[in-house]
Amino acid sequence: MKQKQGFYCTECGNELAKWAGKCPACGSWNTIIECPEPLKMARGSGKNANFHETRLPRPMTELAPDQEIRFSTGMGELDRVLGGGAVRGSLVLVGGAPGIGKSTLMLQICGKLCEFSRVLYVSGEESEHQLKLRAQRLQVNSENLYVISETNLDMLIESVTAQRPEILIVDSIQTLYRESIESLAGSVSQVKECTLTLMQLAKRQNITVFVIGHINKEGSIAGPKVLEHMVDCVLYFEGDQHTSYRILRAAKNRFGTTNEIGVFEMGDNGLSEVENPSQMLLSGRPDGVPGTCVTCVMEGARPVLAEIQALVVSSAGGNPRRTSNGFDYNRAAMLLAVLEKRGGLKISACDAYLNIIGGLSLDEPAADLAAVIALASSYLDQPVPNDLVAIGEVGLTGELRTVNHLKQRILEAHRLGFHRCVIPAGSKAPDLRPVSGLEGMELVQAHNIGEAIRESLHKRA
Ligand code: TYD
Ligand code: MG
Repeated sequence: MKQKQGFYCTECGNELAKWAGKCPACGSWNTIIECPEPLKMARGSGKNANFHETRLPRPMTELAPDQEIRFSTGMGELDRVLGGGAVRGSLVLVGGAPGIGKSTLMLQICGKLCEFSRVLYVSGEESEHQLKLRAQRLQVNSENLYVISETNLDMLIESVTAQRPEILIVDSIQTLYRESIESLAGSVSQVKECTLTLMQLAKRQNITVFVIGHINKEGSIAGPKVLEHMVDCVLYFEGDQHTSYRILRAAKNRFGTTNEIGVFEMGDNGLSEVENPSQMLLSGRPDGVPGTCVTCVMEGARPVLAEIQALVVSSAGGNPRRTSNGFDYNRAAMLLAVLEKRGGLKISACDAYLNIIGGLSLDEPAADLAAVIALASSYLDQPVPNDLVAIGEVGLTGELRTVNHLKQRILEAHRLGFHRCVIPAGSKAPDLRPVSGLEGMELVQAHNIGEAIRESLHKRA
């Protein structure tokens, strides 16, 4: 790769053809400098020449079909998100807000990984002693687990060369720096350079690398967002810091799908897997109060029940307030309009709030119906029965449209003790043929939101 002569911003990494006092991209003053020689060398050839030996392309047919290149991390929920285990020689970026539990997750999987491979845990955030304390708490202890507190990338590579680990964990990318780059650790140019180097390390030496990256609420700090295109797999660890549940989701995966989620619970001894997320998401659900309705969404191949809460109150005047949390804002606005026009509820003069419980974000049209019912329930001040679940997409004319995997969703609702399921009329018959084990589940077919709301809400006494 030939690096063109130029200037770049030490703050945001923006490249320019000529010098300027103020960076046009990030607005910082006096941060533009000329690309130093070592930077060009680090990107082209030079210091790490061993990564850049000439290699000839080979015919596909000559490549050996790899045997088992996946391995389990010992945590089923993490394996699921990775697409059935981690892939040798891949680089996985684990992003998340500070304090969410990234270091905990990584150190915890070391326990299992050490049983069959050598693991090197490089921390730029904690001293070796602090790592020991954390490992003790997580009951991780193995001769195969090596730790080092290091922030210099070149030293890290030396450690790797000396240690030859099969798995490398880097905590975190924001603390790493390469001396040849003249900006602070954590700046865009540093994190990009360090990630690129680690990526080459992973491929050339067939090391599986997990890289932790902090991310702030907007994802704008030099972190996982700017690195997404470089790495093999990007996982985000999400959750409310005030609750103990954590959701791991894949934003990118070169070796699997991106729609699986893993659910964990943070406890005194680290993270434990939650194999039954529906139950977790429904725990603490209020009984007999208006403004809540349960639906079933598909998270990858797994049906998950989620509670949608709505609050509709008459507006104090001016523009009514609308907020939605975990539910697409525009979709919510559309549903409110449909409720007004087709459902006959005078909702336009009301403030409306929509919230998905448990930090889940629903991006499936199948959740429409439950949102509409929760809104209507709040507006009419009539509760939805506790054992009712609603599944269906709502169209602009207020009609209900059928959704995929309906049977699987209904089965999940049945498993968790729901007895009535409101679904779109005309849902394909084969989908609904009673399955063994579905006894006691009443399927209520509705054509439009009016019917669905009538069927769902308790009649006034
Ligand atoms: P940590 O893994 O350090 O977060 P990150 O690396 O993403 O910044 O997790 C920090 C939080 O987790 C902290 O608030 C304490 C909590 N925690 C537990 O509740 N139990 C535990 O066993 C551990 C290790 C951490
Ligand atoms: Mg950490």
